[in-house]
Amino acid sequence: MPIGLMSAMQEENSKLIAELGEDHHVIDKGMRRYHVGSLWEIPVVVVFSRWGKVAAATTATCLITEFNVGEIIFTGVAGGADPEVRVGDVVVATGLCQHDMDARPLFPRHEIPLIGRSTFQSDISRRVHAVEATKRFFLNDLVSQIDKSVFAEFGIVDPQVIEGEIASGDKFIAATAEIKELKSRLPRTSCVEMEGAAVAQVCYEYDIPWTVIRTISDAANEAAVIDFPKFVTAVASTYSYGILKQLFQRLRT
Ligand code: ADE
Repeated sequence: MPIGLMSAMQEENSKLIAELGEDHHVIDKGMRRYHVGSLWEIPVVVVFSRWGKVAAATTATCLITEFNVGEIIFTGVAGGADPEVRVGDVVVATGLCQHDMDARPLFPRHEIPLIGRSTFQSDISRRVHAVEATKRFFLNDLVSQIDKSVFAEFGIVDPQVIEGEIASGDKFIAATAEIKELKSRLPRTSCVEMEGAAVAQVCYEYDIPWTVIRTISDAANEAAVIDFPKFVTAVASTYSYGILKQLFQRLRT
């Protein structure tokens, strides 16, 4: 079964699509473009999901039901929700929840109605592979692939990979007060983004494994909006490509 590769930014996908080369085909469905081919000899379906939980959930569902993927890997950017999670770090999700789910008083805050849980846990062995791939990318490829001036511009020093909880919601968080309030409700959150928990829920319901790998682009504070577009182009797309390459080369052996 192919692996579904999703991202919420067009720029992140473009390097992977270039790597697919001429030997792949494209299928358009539901306003998404699915690229079907192989990356480093592993069958894949690559798709740009667009932003937010609905976009991510419909795309994940289509990958599973129409393209028969056996697992989904989501790469993208996220806002750091912890002082120890810095711009340029990578968070590999241990678990994902929806920080904007609130069906009180019928269900406890954050609990997904009728599923009876608020967090979806990732598959441990896939998570470990993703962490190891990120470490190899940092060690072997980072310096040659991203210019020093880019690191200096974004204040990236000695990037780390962190295994942590991720909170998703239909809100780009760009205010210190807002991220503090979220952390008071969900204190274990390492970073925030807008799609991962939707993908995790769809995968849970279809009983397939998922992995979410997020590059920290901002600190979910007032500076987040200014940093964002340039970071995705200059840093995040290189990270996604490099980490997946390391991961796939290891899976193949
Ligand atoms: N993705 C990247 N940065 C984010 C932020 N600050 N809030 C939500 N999603 C994000």
